[in-house]
Amino acid sequence: MSSFDRSCAARGVSGETGQSPLPRRLFVKSYGCQMNVYDAQRMTDLLAREGYAGTARVEEADLVILNTCHIREHAAEKVFSELGKLRALKAARASAGRETKIIVAGCVAQAEGAEIFRRQKAVDIVVGPQSYHRLPELLHRAGTSPEVLDTDFPAESKFDRLAAPSAHQIRKRGVSAFVTVQEGCDKFCTFCVVPYTRGAEASRPVEGIVAEVEMLAAAGVREVSLIGQNVNAYHGRTPEGATASLASLISRVAAVPSIARIRYTTSHPGDMDASLIQAHRDQARLMPFLHLPVQSGSDKILAAMNRGHTRAGYIALIAEIRGARPDIALSSDFIVGFPGENEEDFAATLDLVEKVGFANAFSFKYSPRAGTPAAELRNQIPESVKSERLARLQTLLDRQRRAFNTKMAGRTVDVLIEKPGRHAGQIAGKSPYLQAVQIEGSLDRIGEIVRAEIVSAGANSLFGRLLPDWAAREAPR
Ligand code: 5AD
Ligand code: SF4
Repeated sequence: MSSFDRSCAARGVSGETGQSPLPRRLFVKSYGCQMNVYDAQRMTDLLAREGYAGTARVEEADLVILNTCHIREHAAEKVFSELGKLRALKAARASAGRETKIIVAGCVAQAEGAEIFRRQKAVDIVVGPQSYHRLPELLHRAGTSPEVLDTDFPAESKFDRLAAPSAHQIRKRGVSAFVTVQEGCDKFCTFCVVPYTRGAEASRPVEGIVAEVEMLAAAGVREVSLIGQNVNAYHGRTPEGATASLASLISRVAAVPSIARIRYTTSHPGDMDASLIQAHRDQARLMPFLHLPVQSGSDKILAAMNRGHTRAGYIALIAEIRGARPDIALSSDFIVGFPGENEEDFAATLDLVEKVGFANAFSFKYSPRAGTPAAELRNQIPESVKSERLARLQTLLDRQRRAFNTKMAGRTVDVLIEKPGRHAGQIAGKSPYLQAVQIEGSLDRIGEIVRAEIVSAGANSLFGRLLPDWAAREAPR
């Protein structure tokens, strides 16, 4: 049984409840993907058990963790500039007689290892994403020795060693929660560091995930996003010793009472199997939104990226998914300026975007990453060309996002209310299509799925009018 058991939650083990008279303070800053957000929460829960209470003010922290991202150069460099500031803070606190320990966790820790100590002497611990369950032990070691490094891929699973958050902590984090179900990637796209920083594909067993979702649901969570670097390659063990696909995991999670919404991210087109496509037709709790990165619309570039799919294959797959769930909102990642990309290749990307139509997207300039095959290619694209292509692509994607949002005006949608809205008297939530919705309403609706008529649409959010309760009860969730 995973340590995410309910007995632990019931004990309310948390430094954040302020049980100790003078709790040590922990500040965690997370960069990059949703998995880092999840990992940061797990580190917080683990250290709460060690007597650390969370703080949002870095100046008062006895322990600072930077949970880093290595996906693009810009992301990695931000970490070193942040560490420079932390060094000054550590020195200032030391002159006031207060000790500060600095931990670098996440993918920069994994990729750079001991090099981090060389670049920034103020760092005490460097810990990779597969070994952060050992943090209490590493902190103990850091009490007596400098430069504690752990970038192993240990045989034991960290998921068996993590601490459960308290019910209070779960509620504070909101009614929508991430749950990591899969980590690592075996696809080896030639631009990507993930197979090196997060390692080979590994799936958590079904029971541990379901136990975690039950614990979240008991504390008031209504929506779970199942996350993994290549989540639709999920193949977790069942208690009977069989292997579960993502579709069967989704149906297990859908059976947890009060979990009204399920999402999953990030997927690879090559792992979009028939059972998962069918789940979009048959599973009412699976939301009609799919993030399915294509990266490029050019077959030449897709091959050079080692994506394992073609342009036509992606378009056909989208048609199949829309056949199963016609209203599904699609999202993607794009890279422009991959080595060798010419104007014709880029035009093929724009054309694919026109053909498919995306509700949302993330687009990036190609960033060479040391150790990946594409960084070695000779035909790198000048920065100015990358910037110009990115601007053209983003103009098109923005137009599609606005069009998708505008189309919602006059429609009735179910909104999961998550938090107070932007202005007094407003509440904010998400549509099934992952759009932010602002509604006039009272805070006691947080956690409910309400029915709203969309009255207008902005670039980034919708504005809705609450419909009477009877309508919400009639509505499919
Ligand atoms: N350069 C630019 N973008 C990248 N991504 C991954 N590696 C790189 C890189 N080297 C993007 C991809 C991926 C997303 C998470 O980040 O689009 O899907
Ligand atoms: Fe990276 Fe995604 Fe390709 Fe895996 S599938 S190597 S995580 S871009």
